[in-house]
Amino acid sequence: MTSTNTISTQLREDTRDLHLAAERSPFMQSFFRGQVGREIYCHMLARLQQVYALIEKYHTQHADHPVLGKMYFPELFRVEAMQQDLAFFNHTPAQNGEMTEATRSYADRIEWLANNWPAGIIAHQYTRYLGDLSGGQMIKKVVKRAYSLADERGVAFYNFADVPDIPAFKERYRQAIDSLPIDDSEKQRLVDEANLSFRHNIALFNELDTETKAG
Ligand code: HEM
Repeated sequence: MTSTNTISTQLREDTRDLHLAAERSPFMQSFFRGQVGREIYCHMLARLQQVYALIEKYHTQHADHPVLGKMYFPELFRVEAMQQDLAFFNHTPAQNGEMTEATRSYADRIEWLANNWPAGIIAHQYTRYLGDLSGGQMIKKVVKRAYSLADERGVAFYNFADVPDIPAFKERYRQAIDSLPIDDSEKQRLVDEANLSFRHNIALFNELDTETKAG
């Protein structure tokens, strides 16, 4: 029987509303209808890559942290894969780490956590990487269809070469998160932070939606 107050259950249940909001966001809707052009798709990938780069940097830097270190899973790292996809699409990276407003605000939050509450980065890892391991597999099919990709070139982001058994990994991830040495108030803070992470993603999508409709 599953306990209802494990942090993994709490994360799933208490972020459900914002997960739905992200799924139903106008950008995701257009994306699923194949209405997002390659260029905007690359913008999404490039902006997310700026955020993932920070998450991965701090996971690595804090690999010995008593809490964050317990969630050090380099097999999830996506930056290299994202760079491969961007190179495949011939996308030019932003100059000097330039960021859009929504990306900057998302990135600033990760930086703030790294300096003030490193364990909070787990919430951002959860929101993005568990999402990539879950709905991400569906999104890959959409990307392949929308951009007429015949093989795996261009979709490295969705291919977790170092995670051969995704359901087993998700189970291991949940066990690790449920064994974190944190009290109830820190658990709640992580759930709140995961919701904030969803909000940052929605803001990033909304920015892309405006660009899609302007183009
Ligand atoms: C239209 C877009 C999306 C679809 C269709 C989708 C679909 C799904 C599905 C079907 C699952 C459950 C998989 C399972 O039970 O094993 C899932 C889980 C998840 N998704 Fe999404 N998703 C979407 C967008 C997003 C976005 C934008 C994020 C975050 C930014 C996200 C984050 C997550 C997370 C964190 C989980 C894991 C929940 C848990 O088990 O704790 N998803 N998604």
